[in-house]
Amino acid sequence: MTSMRGVRLVSHRAMSSCPSAAIGYSTSLADTMSGCPSTAIVKSTSPAVTMSGCPFAAIVKATAPAVAPKVREIVDDFYPRMFSNSPEAKAFFNPANQFKEPPLQRMALANAVVAYATSIDDLSKLTGALEIIAHKHCGLGVKPRHYSIVHQNLMESIGHVMGDAVTPEVGEGWSEAVLALAKNLCELEAKLYAESAGRRGGWKGVKDFRVAGTRRVATDCVELTFKPVDGAGPIDFTPGQFLTLHLHKRGSTPRHYTVTNAPGKDYLQCCPKLVEGGFVSSALHGMKEGDVVGVSAPFGTFKLSGRPAVLCSAGVGATPMKCFLDSAPEQVKFVLHIDRDEAAHPFRKEMEASSAGTHFHYTDAGGRPEAAALVEGALKPYLAECDFFLCGPPPFLADMSAALKAAGARSIHLDVFGPALAQPN
Ligand SMILES: Cc1cc2nc3c(=O)[nH]c(=O)nc-3n(C[C@H](O)[C@H](O)[C@H](O)COP(=O)(O)OP(=O)(O)OC[C@H]3O[C@@H](n4cnc5c(N)ncnc54)[C@H](O)[C@@H]3O)c2cc1C
Ligand code: HEM
Ligand code: HEM
Repeated sequence: MTSMRGVRLVSHRAMSSCPSAAIGYSTSLADTMSGCPSTAIVKSTSPAVTMSGCPFAAIVKATAPAVAPKVREIVDDFYPRMFSNSPEAKAFFNPANQFKEPPLQRMALANAVVAYATSIDDLSKLTGALEIIAHKHCGLGVKPRHYSIVHQNLMESIGHVMGDAVTPEVGEGWSEAVLALAKNLCELEAKLYAESAGRRGGWKGVKDFRVAGTRRVATDCVELTFKPVDGAGPIDFTPGQFLTLHLHKRGSTPRHYTVTNAPGKDYLQCCPKLVEGGFVSSALHGMKEGDVVGVSAPFGTFKLSGRPAVLCSAGVGATPMKCFLDSAPEQVKFVLHIDRDEAAHPFRKEMEASSAGTHFHYTDAGGRPEAAALVEGALKPYLAECDFFLCGPPPFLADMSAALKAAGARSIHLDVFGPALAQPN
């Protein structure tokens, strides 16, 4: 055990140097981050969406500043309204998110609406954000008919909260804007649904899987193996994607879990961490072989770039890293992981067994690490050559990505186990 610059090194293998950059970097960090309403999101290369020529664009743009301060009120009115009008829509929404304080998501939404309204003539600026939303919606199983429910209730909420300020002209402008956004999302989602059903072992909607095995991989983490009840397989997906579990349990709403195994097997694995008071993680930790759950095919935008990679995780953020190590070990040059202690560290053995260099920091022994010191002490040799893949709690993501950026990292990709667009950067 050694320590450098205040960083306690629990395990630190030789840092293999990255292969020299024969690989060209076509985009700098600044390029990949620009244009997206949330700088936390690495822009994807999906087709641009536009709303050019929309007669309502000017109205939305002009009234956005008046609507923006009221968004919190509109959202607070909208959810209960939609839930009481439509049990079908309610069944998608995790009740735990409705009680979170501070209401990070809802306040972020206010900013997003202004961003949306001011870039309404060129929605291509929102492409990265729409892609993330569409992948989440596909895991949930959102269908075009649900957009009508949302539209109807949202317009009622806007009318209710804004009162006389909503002239027919203004109301129509916002209505058209939401419909246009919905149309873009529906089109993207139709494409994603078709792609995922067309992959080897792919399927549409929710399919039954049986628990074929459980393995404790850390104090609070169990890896579950699911096999399709219909026996179909092997199953392809993009490493880094999540499956969505739909428990056959009254009152349950869907949850996403990163797939932890490599593609091409006749099973899917995921690793839920037990969350105190958590509805789905508690149920999963009580599961036995033979239990049946509903599973949506894998979706999600977090994936390797094809360039040399450094994986940085904290806690259960180790799950996509396990998948990357299984799927593309040759691309991974270094693995950094932070956890409470050795016993709490999921997939520690798999990380150690890889040929990549490792640095594990345990906070019980070493205290909370400074992100800048971690970068300086362990990641510096990789800054020029590698892309960085981060997954862990929001403060970890915010601190590490800020420190990596300050140190000159060129490309940073974040996986967020919650609303990705609310992640501060
Ligand atoms: C893309 C993605 C990938 C993910 N991958 C993983 C993964 O690999 N492994 C993993 O473990 N997780 C992962 N997650 C997180 C996972 O989806 C769940 O959010 C997590 O398991 C918690 O779900 P739960 O049902 O157990 O808790 P929930 O029931 O959602 O509860 C969450 C918290 O809210 C509290 N709460 C619940 N109801 C209320 C209420 N009425 N009032 C106040 N507080 C309340 C609970 O006590 C708990 O602390 C991922 C998420 C995403 C978006
Ligand atoms: C002009 C239209 C809209 C824009 C630009 C927009 C944009 C955003 C953005 C950027 C976020 C991420 C920040 C955050 O997590 O809050 C967000 C969150 C969210 N939005 Fe919207 N949104 C719009 C309308 C809607 C509508 C119509 C719905 C209907 C269901 C909706 C449902 C949600 C949900 C569920 C979240 C996540 C909050 C949570 O998990 O609790 N939004 N929105
Ligand atoms: C124009 C319409 C809509 C917009 C703009 C919108 C926007 C969003 C956004 C921004 C998020 C957060 C994504 C993230 O940050 O990771 C989100 C998540 C979500 N959306 Fe939508 N949405 C719309 C329609 C719908 C509809 C029709 C439904 C279903 C009835 C729905 C259900 C949800 C749910 C349940 C989430 C929860 C987040 C999760 O699963 O992680 N949305 N949406």
